[in-house]
Amino acid sequence: AGLAEWRSAWDGSGDALPAAIAACTRCPLHRNATQAVPGEGPGDADLMIVGEQPGDLEDLGGKPLVGPAGQIFDEIAAIAGLDRQQAYVTNAVKHFKFVPRGKRRLHQRPDMSEIHHCRWWLDAEIARVKPKLILAMGATAAESLTGKRDGILSRRGGIERTISGLPVLITLHPAYLLRLRDPQAAAQGRALFQGDLEKAVALM
Ligand code: URA
Repeated sequence: AGLAEWRSAWDGSGDALPAAIAACTRCPLHRNATQAVPGEGPGDADLMIVGEQPGDLEDLGGKPLVGPAGQIFDEIAAIAGLDRQQAYVTNAVKHFKFVPRGKRRLHQRPDMSEIHHCRWWLDAEIARVKPKLILAMGATAAESLTGKRDGILSRRGGIERTISGLPVLITLHPAYLLRLRDPQAAAQGRALFQGDLEKAVALM
């Protein structure tokens, strides 16, 4: 079914979208993932926050941004005065993509086709929530929302637009902060991320 058909079949109760996402087989990622992870938050949120895809813990728990990246996001959001409970939090891709390595499942970046297929659901979430501002965290979210993935470092902190004209504030993915080992680089990375979150708050 097309997006228009899905929209006309939807009764507006808000419960149909997570169920439709849960049943998605539009790309091969559903085969190995535990479950799809739909967005979470108020259906009328002014701010939508878009990450990359569920990680290991999100895949198991069914909720977005609850693992290590979510924790560092929560920590810095609190300092920046961004109330996550008031935002709609989702991902560009709804199923976890990984390769098994012993007992661990190693994250793999979603490819263009997977991002494109899942854009369907992100569009449906945007159509439902109608946010005033979208915060795109990382190259995958930027690609899905703006059609351009490159140059994220120089784009961060800037405001771009979706094809439908909604403002998109670009920032890096919080998982990036977890990889910064040098204390000075880590402090600077956190400060810049906090600045981007403060900008999102100021724009609301
Ligand atoms: N990284 C993301 O982008 N989203 C999640 O939900 C978890 C980790």
